Amino acid sequence: MSFRAALKTCAAEVDAHLIAQIRTHDPIPVVEAMAYAVAGGKGLRGYLVMESARIHGVDPNRALWSAAAIEAIHAYSLVHDDMPCMDDDDLRRGHPTVHIKWNETTAVLTGDALQSLGFELVTDPRCHENAQVRAELALTLARASGARGMVLGQALDIAAESAASQLTLEEITALQAGKTGALISWSAQAGAIMGQAETAPLSAYADALGLAFQIADDILDVEGDAEVAGKRLQKDADAGKATFVSLLGLEPARARAAELVDEAISALSVYGDSADELRAAARFVISRDT
Ligand code: IPE
Ligand code: IPE
Ligand code: MG
Ligand code: MG
Ligand code: MG
Repeated sequence: MSFRAALKTCAAEVDAHLIAQIRTHDPIPVVEAMAYAVAGGKGLRGYLVMESARIHGVDPNRALWSAAAIEAIHAYSLVHDDMPCMDDDDLRRGHPTVHIKWNETTAVLTGDALQSLGFELVTDPRCHENAQVRAELALTLARASGARGMVLGQALDIAAESAASQLTLEEITALQAGKTGALISWSAQAGAIMGQAETAPLSAYADALGLAFQIADDILDVEGDAEVAGKRLQKDADAGKATFVSLLGLEPARARAAELVDEAISALSVYGDSADELRAAARFVISRDT
């Protein structure tokens, strides 16, 4: 199976599990919006969870809970990212954003509820039989998504829009490590946490992968096809976003992303052939058009 086909199959399974969990709630508008917001993504973060779990011999039926958790947290971050007070976008995954289809109150609450759901999923006994492992999943997920992870990155991203001077390469790297890197890093390490194994190689893999992923997103903003991407493009420059592309230009940014993919792949040597899918995922992040 090609990597793209495998990613699609995995995303469908994770989506189905997540939507089934969302459907256990009463069908109020927020719950409808939760199911709407989690659907239709590429599912890369969930895929990284499932693959890191497979490498460690973790039962895929349990790994699915962690995969669904990170996709819930990711979807929450997107619902809020698209709101008028942040990036002010009206299209996501080819459909109107939650605050457009419903309203801002629903968008805030949908993000909040998806965040809570993410923590509920990793602490559910069906995710892992060992309570200590569940606690470790929740602790690391809290760190990755909160004010030293994704939220920090998002705050830096918005602050940079009105910064008096351009951010340095080091500052942009730190911003992106938070806003995009932290959740990707958790995803890649989740399988090792569930398998009670060493996380360092996957952490090194994900650091490089996450940065390459965000550089690719920034390149897509400049030269992607909005129809294919399912979101508005060519917005970063006008908004004054600090990106590798804004600082270095398109070609150097592309070269840096390719270097990072090589770095990510090198970090996987300890896993031998069993990590071929993670290698393919690394190549995918800079070749994608969505
Ligand atoms: C978009 O993430 C937001 C970023 C962190 C750049 P994805 O490109 O993974 O979005 P979906 O989940 O496939 O829609
Ligand atoms: C979003 O980054 C990152 C998070 C939601 C944490 P962007 O703002 O660049 O993502 P897009 O381009 O809207 O998908
Ligand atoms: Mg943003
Ligand atoms: Mg955005
Ligand atoms: Mg973007």
